[in-house]
Amino acid sequence: MQASLLSIAYLIGSVTFIIGLKMLSHPASARKGNLVAAGGMFLAIAGTIFLYEEGGEKLHNYGWIFSGLLIGTVVGVIAARKVKMTAMPEMVSMFNGMGGACAMLISIVEFNHLAHTPVSLSISNGNLNAALTDLINMVSGGVDVHVGGKLLIILLGLIIGTVSFAGSVIAWGKLNGKVKDFAFKGQHIVNLTMLGIIVILAGYLVAVINNSYVMEEGSYHVLPQISISFYIILALSIAYGVLFVMPIGGADMPVVISLLNSFTGVAAACGGFLYNNPVMLTGGILVGSAGTILTILMCKAMNRSLKNVLIGSFGGPKTGGAAKEQTGSYKEISISDAAVVLRYANKVMIVPGYGLAVAQAQHVCHELEKLLEEKGVQVSYAIHPVAGRMPGHMNVLLAEADVPYEKLEEMEQANGEMNTTDAVLVLGANDVVNPAAKNDPDSPIYGMPILEVENAKMVIVNKRSMKPGYAGIENDLFFQPKTSMLFGDAKAVLQQLVAEVKIV
Ligand code: TAP
Repeated sequence: MQASLLSIAYLIGSVTFIIGLKMLSHPASARKGNLVAAGGMFLAIAGTIFLYEEGGEKLHNYGWIFSGLLIGTVVGVIAARKVKMTAMPEMVSMFNGMGGACAMLISIVEFNHLAHTPVSLSISNGNLNAALTDLINMVSGGVDVHVGGKLLIILLGLIIGTVSFAGSVIAWGKLNGKVKDFAFKGQHIVNLTMLGIIVILAGYLVAVINNSYVMEEGSYHVLPQISISFYIILALSIAYGVLFVMPIGGADMPVVISLLNSFTGVAAACGGFLYNNPVMLTGGILVGSAGTILTILMCKAMNRSLKNVLIGSFGGPKTGGAAKEQTGSYKEISISDAAVVLRYANKVMIVPGYGLAVAQAQHVCHELEKLLEEKGVQVSYAIHPVAGRMPGHMNVLLAEADVPYEKLEEMEQANGEMNTTDAVLVLGANDVVNPAAKNDPDSPIYGMPILEVENAKMVIVNKRSMKPGYAGIENDLFFQPKTSMLFGDAKAVLQQLVAEVKIV
């Protein structure tokens, strides 16, 4: 009865993950989707704690379990409530690292079980006959149980989880400026060699484990060299995770975090296999595949290969087109002139970028949009898929200010409307409106789809200076005759624009 109830709880949990993930794909349903999946996770955890039985015995150690849950909940809630939108990738990275660490710890614990009680799998399944057969097999020479297969899964969970944990901690450190980029000559060779040793050592352990048990003082355990090799794999995986992320540019971290996130999903799925736990398996597979798809989508939206992200140096020392210094002149526009342009336009397109998030100017931006609409101007937002520093950054930012979703236009749709737009207001965006992506084959962003704002009748660009954006390259848009620069912090500028539009 309890087992059936637990299966039902797991089934509901798995289904809610899928429904939640689906709901996350639209801003209107994302918040609810999160809650649905969290509810499913709660059910799965509660079911495991209260309904799980092994060999007729329930879980014990409730003190440990609930202390862990309490500490995790308090830390998670405080961190999530306090985090600033611009620090979200950082927090996601740390949370992801914790998932990797869990997979790593599960593998260590399960290896120790396996190293001392090779028949535990059969017994734990309540199958005494199978356990006896296993025992006979062991005594007669080879430990012909599922030890090899089980060790393979343990090692996969260990390697992938540990790399994800170590890599995520470094990514977290890079994003908050505590860890600096670090690379040395031949690092990729060193990394590949290390990975090769890990794979060979793991393959060797799986191949020899069956013949590595010895009986001592009435119980079986593996030869010491097997345990030592296991911990060498652990140490090498930590080193690999650190060295793999170290040379990658800090600004490329969102892509790396998404990739590490998919690793954690795969490591969690290994745990699902290990414990024959369907909800863990489903959750892990969903995280693994969603992380992989997100990584691919981010790379596509930036027109960069994953290899280029991992071993390229985007925004690093400039080469080719990136080194081009802009020598032309740009013109500035005053707040009052900008207010007149916007107020008397028929159609205005706002292009939000990373600077809008930095300035936390989303609320006053929405205020300006409403004010212009009241005065009969048609206003919409053009959303580039990688504007900002994380997937959906601009959608989340604008949703926070209650900007209606219908006002957000995806890149293709927005580009189709540019030539009927009177004025584009670029707010703290740079790379996503850089025409070099279309015109300059030497540019590091060449080929990246962009918002073609230069097709509108007029462009007003708000930023604080002429400094480049994330990619570290000049933007020809700022020097075009149609463009006027409106310098200043986005929030302050928007507040002044609101005041001015009210009186023009
Ligand atoms: P960026 O190209 O980074 O440009 C942001 C601009 O905002 C800067 O030029 C900066 O100029 C300005 N700014 C900063 N603080 C400001 C403030 N307080 N007020 C006004 N302006 C401010 O941003 P973007 O156009 O949104 O492009 C995003 C970039 O990030 C792309 O290159 C993309 O490939 C990359 N990226 C995105 C993601 C995801 S998933 N979104 C992931 C990885 C990488 P000043 O310093 O002169 O003010």
